[in-house]
Amino acid sequence: MELELRRGHLQTMAKIAFILFVVNAIGLSLAANIMGTNQSISCGETLVSSDLTFELGFFTRGNSSMSYLGIWYKFSPQTVVWVANRDNPLADRNGVIRFSNVSNLVVLNQSNGVVWSSKLSRVLRNLVAQLLDSGSLVLWDKSGSSVDEAYSWQSFDYPTDMLLPSLKLGLNLKTGLEWHLTAWKSINDPSPGDYINVLKLSSGSTSV
Ligand SMILES: *[C@@H]1O[C@H](CO)[C@@H](O)[C@H](O)[C@H]1NC(C)=O
Ligand SMILES: *[C@@H]1O[C@H](CO)[C@@H](O)[C@H](O)[C@H]1NC(C)=O
Ligand SMILES: *[C@@H]1O[C@H](CO)[C@@H](O)[C@H](O)[C@H]1NC(C)=O
Repeated sequence: MELELRRGHLQTMAKIAFILFVVNAIGLSLAANIMGTNQSISCGETLVSSDLTFELGFFTRGNSSMSYLGIWYKFSPQTVVWVANRDNPLADRNGVIRFSNVSNLVVLNQSNGVVWSSKLSRVLRNLVAQLLDSGSLVLWDKSGSSVDEAYSWQSFDYPTDMLLPSLKLGLNLKTGLEWHLTAWKSINDPSPGDYINVLKLSSGSTSV
């Protein structure tokens, strides 16, 4: 009788432990695709898209000590789909990404020098950075009234060398931004190489 009770008790404890584990795991993966104004990401820390496909963080390649902020497939970290500071590598692994006080996402080096910036022209109050399931890093204003409000900035407007399913190439007639892919200099060097893929639009053709 006492043994039965004890066994029942143990089973209940095991169930509670399992539920806590699951809740914790889900909670973590939900929380980790978004970064708020007071948060930062250092080397070794990452954001992960909610469907666990993409990961954003700092990476190095080959024997190089230089590090870059990028997005890669979580299941294949060698497959980098976007690089932020490809023109301006960090000399070491001491980079950090955070919001500047003028509402831009910035990558800072060890001495707080700005290595890369999202270069937003508008000042936004309640900015968050989110890594979407599409593989795009977007900045949006959390206090914005409309859910459909366009993103203030998106990495898809600055493609590297990888074409993802919902990434567009060509000319954005609204913003004048030209989307094109530029190959890496070499397999271990994401700096812009010689090969550029630009879509030439004939006059009168329509793009978004
Ligand atoms: C790293 O450096 C070693 C020795 O210098 C060299 O043999 C090796 O090929 C390098 N590896 C890469 C990936 O560059
Ligand atoms: C941002 O911070 C710098 C240094 O901390 C300061 O000089 C500057 O005035 C600040 N800018 C704004 C818009 O708050
Ligand atoms: C940090 O970045 C600034 C500005 O780009 C640069 O002048 C400085 O040398 C860098 N410091 C280090 C330690 O890389």
